Formats: sequence, structure tokens, C-alpha cells
Amino acid sequence: MKKTRILTVLMVVGLLAGGSSMAVAAADCVSCHQKNNPGMYLQWKNSAHGENGIGCIDCHGAEKGDVDAFKHYGATVATLVTPKDCGQCHTEIEQETSQSYHAHAGEILKSNDAYLAHAAGGHPVVIVGCESCHGANIKIDPDAKNKLSPETWPNSGVGRLNPDGSKGACNACHSRHSFSKYQARQPGNCGKCHLGPDHPQKEIYDESKHGIAYNAYREDLNLRSDEWVVGVDYYEAPTCTTCHMSATPKQGITHDVGDRISWTLRPPVSKHKENWQEKRQAMKDVCSNCHQNNFVDGHYYQYDAMVHLYNEKFAKPAGKIYSMAKEKGLLEREAAFANDLDWEYWELWHHEGRRARMGAAMMGPDYAWWHGIYDVAHNFYFKFIPEARHLGDTEINAYITELLTKDPMHKWLNSNTGEIKKAISSGELQKVYSQLFEKE
Ligand code: HEC
Ligand code: HEC
Ligand code: HEC
Ligand code: HEC
Ligand code: HEC
Ligand code: HEC
Ligand code: HEC
Ligand code: HEC
Repeated sequence: MKKTRILTVLMVVGLLAGGSSMAVAAADCVSCHQKNNPGMYLQWKNSAHGENGIGCIDCHGAEKGDVDAFKHYGATVATLVTPKDCGQCHTEIEQETSQSYHAHAGEILKSNDAYLAHAAGGHPVVIVGCESCHGANIKIDPDAKNKLSPETWPNSGVGRLNPDGSKGACNACHSRHSFSKYQARQPGNCGKCHLGPDHPQKEIYDESKHGIAYNAYREDLNLRSDEWVVGVDYYEAPTCTTCHMSATPKQGITHDVGDRISWTLRPPVSKHKENWQEKRQAMKDVCSNCHQNNFVDGHYYQYDAMVHLYNEKFAKPAGKIYSMAKEKGLLEREAAFANDLDWEYWELWHHEGRRARMGAAMMGPDYAWWHGIYDVAHNFYFKFIPEARHLGDTEINAYITELLTKDPMHKWLNSNTGEIKKAISSGELQKVYSQLFEKE
């Protein structure tokens, strides 16, 4: 199967290059660059591309009319190699990638995050921060040697907006010039972007039993294997890509990282994704190679309850209070993020609430509680609510009082330790939360 794939690809290459010129041009490029950039040359030479006769010009070759094309020792080349270029040979993968959420990651300019970075931070940090993960909008500079504006390149953000209209950068995961599967399969590869206070997937993974097993058995995982099917080529531990991308005996590889996800944990209040049952089934198929169904169902039962807990107890009331304050024009300064309440609400859902939900999704207990709901609760009760009360609005105060005295999940705040402890020992307090568990 593998052989036919290579052959088809090479035939396509032959057609694209029009036969003869390719071999000569490829050799030409190498003669100089081997001398000037020996590391780059070796990376390419020892890669699947180098081994299969895919040369510099096959990726860097450009048409005269391309906005980023430049004359280079007799050839017309471009420095950028976009998903569209890779897609000449890897058509299906290119299509999957461009349908994925990753491909939209560069469309952030209108987001609150971007507003915050531009206003409270400043343009230089948007470039080396946000855009380094999400992707820059690549601008052309006719005066630059390579036609690329240095404000927007180098950049390998996962949703980069390219001059040819394509979105993304395959080298966000497949670093040049190795472009290897081996590297892409490793958790550290996703960890350039999936870490930190607002989406600590890497830290959660490291803490989980899965990350522990990965670190213990890394050498045994057959990471260099051509096919990498869980339960067939390896079994010791799952990596990020095992669960989100790689093949199982029943499913092929997917470059759409949303294919197996049922909730989106990013927004202030979590929602199910479209066709979420199907997507969850696809994830459960991955788990089932190492766990029994009851165990996996049990995980989702606990995870769903945790998402409901965050949504119902904290996210919805906080969202309501915040929007009342905004609508009534009660905040001292008009600009968003110019008031304490703005930051407190933001951190509640964007940092703390996400950590809690993501910790539960991927078996990171410390992120579910100490970096998660613990922080949410502390912010909610002792920063956000006092700050909201501070505004002195009768309607908001009445809502808060009602919430804290009538809602059984919040009533503890105004009752007595002895009684609360008794309710915990007897299981009464736990019953308050039974509505959050979904009966199947
Ligand atoms: C005669 C030597 C020579 C040959 C032949 C040559 N290069 Fe280069 N290349 C260089 C040098 C020197 C630079 C850096 C200075 C520059 O940009 O001109 C460079 C830069 C580049 C860049 C980066 C431009 C940038 O700064 O963004 C790319 C991409 C590139 N070469 C690709 C190729 C390809 C593809 C070929 C074959 C068609 C090729 N080179 C042939 C010497 C060469
Ligand atoms: C499989 C496609 C592919 C092949 C083959 C390839 N490149 Fe590249 N190259 C890329 C990609 C992708 C980038 C990153 C550019 C971007 O940001 O889009 C890149 C970047 C570069 C750069 C600029 C970045 C830097 O680190 O300086 C140079 C120079 C370059 N390539 C030269 C070469 C040369 C010389 C060869 C042949 C020995 C070669 N490339 C083969 C895909 C390829
Ligand atoms: C370290 C890499 C990184 C940096 C820096 C970064 N982000 Fe993100 N951002 C991510 C990741 C990863 C996600 C997705 C998290 C998830 O799905 O759990 C994300 C999510 C988002 C979302 C939510 C998208 C949605 O559909 O809900 C927005 C908007 C966003 N980022 C904008 C920004 C802006 C603007 C900046 C700069 C102020 C920034 N990000 C900085 C990696 C980064
Ligand atoms: C989010 C990270 C990520 C991005 C972005 C990404 N890939 Fe991949 N890719 C992977 C991983 C992980 C694998 C290995 C899957 C496996 O074998 O388990 C892979 C495998 C591949 C393979 C080998 C497929 C096979 O059947 O052996 C090709 C070819 C490939 N990617 C091309 C691309 C191209 C082209 C792009 C851009 C359009 C791209 N990738 C973008 C992570 C990524
Ligand atoms: C001219 C055709 C061609 C172009 C353009 C091309 N590739 Fe490939 N690619 C191949 C061939 C041939 C192989 C080796 C056979 C295979 O694995 O399918 C390969 C293999 C790969 C692999 C698997 C490597 C491994 O570890 O086995 C990845 C990943 C990959 N390419 C990514 C890319 C990316 C990213 C780009 C664009 C920057 C790109 N390719 C551009 C033809 C191409
Ligand atoms: C260069 C940065 C970067 C890398 C590397 C990266 N991601 Fe992402 N990822 C993002 C951003 C940014 C988003 C959010 C997209 C948006 O804001 O629209 C995201 C979103 C996601 C999502 C949510 C998809 C959805 O449909 O909701 C998953 C799952 C994901 N990434 C998994 C991975 C995995 C697994 C890897 C490693 C193989 C990886 N990512 C590598 C930046 C990255
Ligand atoms: C054992 C399997 C497994 C591993 C390993 C794993 N994940 Fe996940 N991931 C999940 C599950 C399950 C969910 C929740 C899916 C759902 O909501 O249905 C999830 C959710 C996510 C999300 C979505 C968060 C959002 O905002 O909606 C991202 C992003 C993500 N994972 C990235 C990663 C990264 C990066 C790694 C590695 C550092 C990783 N995952 C490791 C199973 C895994
Ligand atoms: C490649 C095998 C593999 C895959 C795939 C896998 N796991 Fe695991 N999982 C393990 C191993 C090994 C352990 C550690 C068992 C132990 O400590 O007894 C584990 C432990 C767990 C635990 C216990 C966590 C703890 O702290 O006690 C849960 C829950 C779990 N996995 C859920 C899942 C879910 C859900 C999926 C799919 C999204 C999944 N696993 C996919 C191998 C796997």
C-alpha cells in the first residue's frame, strides 16, 4: 500500500515539473545550499522527501505571477511553502487540514483576546505572541529580498493567512526540513501552543497517567514506525495525537483535530459541538484499544458532570452579572478591560474555568481542582462578586443575594461550618449536585 502511494505521488511530481527541468534545478539548488546551510541540507537529504527525490524546487518553485515570487540564480522561487503547495502531492491531507479549526486560528483580529493584546499590550507583542501560535496575515513587501514583510515573517502559526489564499502552515507541526511523522506524534510538538494559563493541555497531559506512561515508555512506542496504529504498533501510552489524530484499527489518521471532540471548552459557557455524539464515539473507539467500555463511559460521566458544574454554578451566574453591569453602563471606564470587573470575569472563564474543564477532559486532577475550580471559586466569591456589589446597583445586588441565599449550591456561604460538615458526612450536600450527572 505504501509503495503505490509513493509512486502516485512521484508521477504527479513528474507531471507538475514537466519532466526534464526538475532534476537539473534540484541539483543546482543543492550545490550552493549544501555549502551555505549544511544543517538545512542534511535535514532535507535525510527526510522522506530527500529519500524520495522531492527536491528544493518541488516545494519552493513558483510561477512568475505569484506575489511572493523572486528571481533566484535563474530560477523563480518563493520562500513561503503553503498548504496549497504541499497539497499538490498531499491532496487529501491538505483538504482535511483546511477544514479543521486549526486552519481558522489566524482569524483572531476581531476577538477580545486581540483587543486586549493590542490595547493593553502593543503591536510588537501581538507579532511574537498571538501570531506566533495562531498565524500572521502574511504581507508582501516588494522591497524585501524575499518579498515578505519582516513584520509578518518568519511565522509558522497554525492558521497563518497566506498570500495565495490558503490558511495554515504545515510546518506548525512538521518542522522543516525533516517534515517527519516521528516528531509530529510527540506531545512536545503540540506543546508550543497548547500550554499556559488559558489552555494547559501539555501540563495536564504530563500530569495524567497517560503522560506518565509516555515518559516511562517513550523508547518502546515505536514512534518512528511508518504506520502507527494504537493497539497494533504500540500500546504503552497514548500521546496527544493518539487521541486526536492518529489511526486505530477502525479509523484512519485525521488532520481535522476536532473530529473526536464533543464539547468545546473554550467559550465562557461550554457547548456541545455539531454532531457531538458521533465525534465522542470516534474518541471512545481510540480509548477502547486500551480500556473496557464501562471504564471509558465512566470517564465521560465524570467529565460531563464537571462541565455542568462549571457552567451552572459559576459561568452562567457570572456571565449574567457581568452583562447586567455592562448593559447598565455601571463600569467606571467605558473601554473593555479598563476595569477590575472586566479582568476578573475574563480570568474566571478564560483562564480558570478553562483549566478546570480541560483538566477534567484529560485526566489532570490538579488542573481540575487546584488550578481549576479552586481558582474559579476564589475569584467568584472573593473578587468578582464583591467588585460587582461595589457598583451599588439594586437589581444586581438583589440577584446576587438571591443566588447566594437560595441556590443550594451557593447556600453554604451563609451557613455554619458544623452544619455543612454534617451535610457532607451524611451525603446531603452531595445530593445537591446529583442533577449535574447525566443519566444515560
Ligand atoms: C549560486 C548559489 C545558489 C543557488 C544555485 C541557489 N541558491 Fe538559494 N540562496 C543562496 C543564497 C546565498 C541565499 C541567501 C541570500 C539571498 O537571499 O539571496 C539564498 C536564499 C534562498 C532562499 C531564502 C530566501 C529568503 O531569504 O527568504 C530560498 C528559499 C532559496 N535560496 C531556495 C533556493 C532554491 C529552491 C534554489 C534552486 C532553484 C536555490 N535556492 C539555488 C544561494 C543559492
Ligand atoms: C517539502 C517541501 C520543502 C522542500 C523539499 C524544501 N523546502 Fe525549504 N522550506 C519549506 C518550508 C515549509 C519552509 C518554511 C517557509 C514558510 O514559512 O512557509 C521552508 C523554508 C526554507 C528557507 C527559509 C527559511 C530558513 O530557515 O532560512 C530556505 C532557505 C529553504 N527553505 C531552502 C530550501 C532548500 C535549499 C531546499 C533543498 C535542499 C529546500 N528548502 C527544500 C519546504 C520545503
Ligand atoms: C502559546 C500559543 C498561543 C498564544 C501566545 C496565544 N494563543 Fe490564542 N489560543 C491558543 C490555543 C492553543 C487555543 C485553543 C485552545 C483550546 O482549544 O483549548 C487558543 C484559543 C484562542 C481563541 C479562542 C478561539 C475560539 O474559537 O474560541 C482566541 C480568540 C485566541 N486564542 C486569540 C489569541 C490572541 C488574540 C492572542 C494574543 C493576545 C493569543 N490568542 C495568544 C494558542 C495561543
Ligand atoms: C496539528 C499538527 C499537524 C499539522 C498542522 C499537520 N500535520 Fe501532518 N501529521 C501530523 C501527525 C501527528 C501525523 C502522524 C500521524 C500518525 O501517523 O500517527 C501527520 C502525518 C502526516 C503525513 C503522513 C501521512 C501518512 O499516511 O503516513 C503527511 C504526508 C502529512 N502529515 C502532511 C501534512 C500536510 C501537507 C500538512 C499541511 C496541509 C500537515 N500535515 C499538517 C500532524 C500535523
Ligand atoms: C512534490 C510532491 C511533494 C510535495 C510538494 C510535498 N511532499 Fe511530502 N511527501 C512526498 C513524498 C513522495 C513522500 C514520501 C512518501 C510518503 O510518505 O507518502 C512525502 C512524505 C511526507 C511526510 C511523511 C514523512 C515521514 O516521516 O514519513 C510528511 C509529514 C510530508 N510529506 C509533509 C509535507 C509537507 C508539510 C509539505 C509542504 C511543506 C510536503 N510534504 C510537500 C511528496 C511531496
Ligand atoms: C502553532 C500552534 C499550534 C500547534 C503546534 C498545535 N495547535 Fe492545536 N490549536 C492551536 C490553536 C491556535 C487552536 C485554536 C484555533 C482557533 O483559535 O481558531 C487550536 C485548536 C486545537 C484543537 C481544538 C479543535 C476543535 O475543533 O475544537 C485541538 C483538539 C488541537 N488544537 C489539538 C492539537 C494537537 C493534538 C496538536 C499537536 C499534534 C496541536 N493541536 C498543535 C494551535 C496549535
Ligand atoms: C487519552 C486521550 C487524550 C490525550 C492523550 C490527549 N487528549 Fe486532548 N482531549 C481528550 C478528550 C477526551 C477531550 C474532551 C473531548 C470532548 O469534549 O468530547 C480532549 C480535549 C482536548 C481539547 C479541546 C479543548 C477545548 O477547548 O475544547 C484540546 C485542544 C486538546 N484536547 C488538546 C490536547 C493536547 C495538545 C494533548 C497533548 C498534550 C492532548 N489533548 C492529549 C483526550 C485526550
Ligand atoms: C495506548 C493505551 C491507552 C489509550 C489509547 C488510552 N488510555 Fe487511558 N490509560 C492507559 C494507561 C496505561 C493508564 C494507567 C492505568 C493505571 O494506572 O492503572 C490509563 C489510565 C486512564 C485513566 C485513569 C486515570 C487515573 O488517574 O487513575 C482514565 C480515566 C483513562 N485512562 C481514560 C482514558 C480515556 C477516556 C481514553 C480515550 C480518550 C484513554 N484513556 C485512552 C492507557 C491508555
